[in-house]
Amino acid sequence: MSSRALVLISGGGTNLQSFIDAIAAGRLDAELVGVLSDQPRAFGLQRAERADIPTTVLGAGGYDSRESYDRALQEAMLQFEPELVLLAGFMRILGAGLVRQFEGRMLNVHPSLLPAYRGLHTHRRVLEAGDRRHGCSIHFVTEELDGGPVVAQAEVAVADDDTEQTLSARVQAREHMLFPAVAQWFVSGRLNCVGDKVSLDGRILSEPVVFPKEEEIV
Ligand code: GAR
Repeated sequence: MSSRALVLISGGGTNLQSFIDAIAAGRLDAELVGVLSDQPRAFGLQRAERADIPTTVLGAGGYDSRESYDRALQEAMLQFEPELVLLAGFMRILGAGLVRQFEGRMLNVHPSLLPAYRGLHTHRRVLEAGDRRHGCSIHFVTEELDGGPVVAQAEVAVADDDTEQTLSARVQAREHMLFPAVAQWFVSGRLNCVGDKVSLDGRILSEPVVFPKEEEIV
C-alpha cells in the first residue's frame, strides 16, 4: 500500500507538481492525501484541484500569536493522517511542538547547498558572493531553521551571465528530480531519521548524497 503524504505549499507549487508527475509515472509510491497552503491564492492549490487532491487553506490572519497558528496548523495537518509531510515551498517557520509531532517524517526542500545560505534570497546571495557552485538540498525538519540533517543535494554550475531568474530556474529543475527521489527513498523504507542521524539502506549517512552538476538523479 502506498504511503500517505501531505504537501505544504505557499506558492506556485512546481515541487508539488513534480510529486504528482512522479506518482503518475510510477516513480513515487505515495498517495497525496492533501495539500495545505497558508496562502489562499497559491497557484499550487489549482494544481492540487486539477489532480483531485483535497486542499485546505489556513491563512495566518485571525490568529493572535504564532503559537496559536501553529496549533491550528498542527491540527489541520493531523486531520490528513499523514505518514510523510513534504514542505514544498512552505514559507512559514514551524514551531517546536509541530516539528516534534512530525519528527523523522517531515522533509523540506531548500534552494541552496546547506549549510550554506540558510534563509531567503539564496540565488541572489550566491551571485553576490561569486560562487561557482550552487544547488538544492532536501533535509529532515528540526526546530532549527533550515538546520535539520541533510539527506541529499543536487548541484548546478553558476554561469557568468546567470541572473537570479536563470539560476533559480536551473535549481528548481534539479529540485523537481531530487525531491520525489528522496521521498521515494523514504516511502520505500530505505531512508530513516532518528534524532539527527539519517540512514540510507541501513547505513548512517555521514554526509549528504550529492548529485554533481548534470548528473542524473535516480
Ligand atoms: C522552491 O524553489 C523551494 O526551494 C523554495 O521555494 C520554492 C517553491 O517553489 N523554498 C524555500 O525557499 C524554503 N526556504 P514551488 O512553489 O514552485 O514548489
